Amino acid sequence: MTDTLRNAKPHSSPAPGRREHWSGRLAFILAATGSAVGLGNIWKFPYITGVNGGGWFVLIYLVCVVAVALPIMVAEILIGRSAQRSPVMALRKLDGPRSPWQGVGWLGVAAAFVILSYYSVVAGWTLHYSWLALSQGFAGMQPAEVEALFGQVYQDPGINLFWHGLFMLLTVAIVAAGVHGGVERWSRILMPLLFLMILALVLRAAGTDGFGPALDFVFGAHGDRLTPAGVLEALGHSFFTLSLGMGAMLTYGSYLRTRDDAVATSLAVGGLDTLISLMACMMIFPIIFVAGLAPGAGPGLVFVSLPIAFGQLPGGALWAAVFFVLLAVAALTSAISLLEVAVSHFIDWRAWSRRRAAVGIGAVIFLLGIPSALSGGTRLFGGDFAAATAVLFGEGQGKNWFDLADYLASNWMLPLGGLGIAVFVAWRMGAHAREQAFKAGSRFARLYWGWVWLLRYVVPVGVLAVFLHALGVF
Ligand code: PFF
Repeated sequence: MTDTLRNAKPHSSPAPGRREHWSGRLAFILAATGSAVGLGNIWKFPYITGVNGGGWFVLIYLVCVVAVALPIMVAEILIGRSAQRSPVMALRKLDGPRSPWQGVGWLGVAAAFVILSYYSVVAGWTLHYSWLALSQGFAGMQPAEVEALFGQVYQDPGINLFWHGLFMLLTVAIVAAGVHGGVERWSRILMPLLFLMILALVLRAAGTDGFGPALDFVFGAHGDRLTPAGVLEALGHSFFTLSLGMGAMLTYGSYLRTRDDAVATSLAVGGLDTLISLMACMMIFPIIFVAGLAPGAGPGLVFVSLPIAFGQLPGGALWAAVFFVLLAVAALTSAISLLEVAVSHFIDWRAWSRRRAAVGIGAVIFLLGIPSALSGGTRLFGGDFAAATAVLFGEGQGKNWFDLADYLASNWMLPLGGLGIAVFVAWRMGAHAREQAFKAGSRFARLYWGWVWLLRYVVPVGVLAVFLHALGVF
């Protein structure tokens, strides 16, 4: 396979028959769920739920997933499966070599570079925390020490670069091994492991007195903290958490065979991703509540509050280690899909060998991530955690590199890409081809008109609202 690609002329895509494929539907579900489940579920969802007061925020998030995100996921997977190409070449194939819609694919490839460059830095922190938890544990540390520790990790260029580099190496090694021998193989190992770790942590949390209050916080009717900005945050997050708007699902869909049911698999992936986000809340909040900490701590919930809370729990050192390894594994299976978008693009577009694409692009992304890895050292205000995170996560006025990359990708590139896919499929693609693609091999053919309607009207209105909000219109 690799040799065929290496010898192929530039610009010629490998024949569709030569394309690697998942060994079956389960392999696709595991890999796509691996892409979807990441830092977004276990780090970000619990903290934005905390900040927005739980309850109603969670309900609104669920509505966004069903009404906006899932229709886009189906559209992306269908385009990939029909065209058997990565995003740019898929849109060229479906809409002609000069189609302006290929711009949506290019945006996705650019987003892969941008997102992975900073995602890998945060993933590096999870590796560092796993190492700390396994080697010395957080037990016995005073809250102030844990806070100082995060400030120190964030600030230390050596730590950041080392773990960012190691994380990129792991990602490159898996992607270079191929769709079948790398992505699928590791998804089959890592995803069950991830699920077991989450289950163990939820069961541990269920044994504490904080479980009842946590259930009430997440599922009870609390709406007092919810703002319009929170509603839009829920919508924006539904894109990020399901890896939408940048061609990751499209690329994974391109390794499906036409007989594989794209609609059923989308529902499975969306359902599993949501389940894991809710489980993440149910493993974090009980422990936070038992320790008497606040749920609305923001980005530091997982890196500061949680280690403090684990420190007070019997056997907490072990559980903290399980938690951070879990976070690292979740980040790894997502990073694989980010790299795969770019790698698959250069294989299809330039006929690069997979190994060359993975190593070359991985190196470029490592370099692009350096400014993010050094952001803390250059912009940290004397180790003050609150100021550091305010700058880092865009709550303050200052934007450093890391900030900017996250802001650009999450608020602009992903929603724009998602909108592009939705409008292409709902308004531009031939009605016959669209209907055939949806119904081929699907047990859910009867959902066709509902899906088209959501893509035509609900998705554009939702995404426009996100943009207007980002522009400060409301
Ligand atoms: N879905 C991942 C998460 O929730 O952490 C992040 C992500 C992965 C976004 C892959 C986009 C993507 F293409």
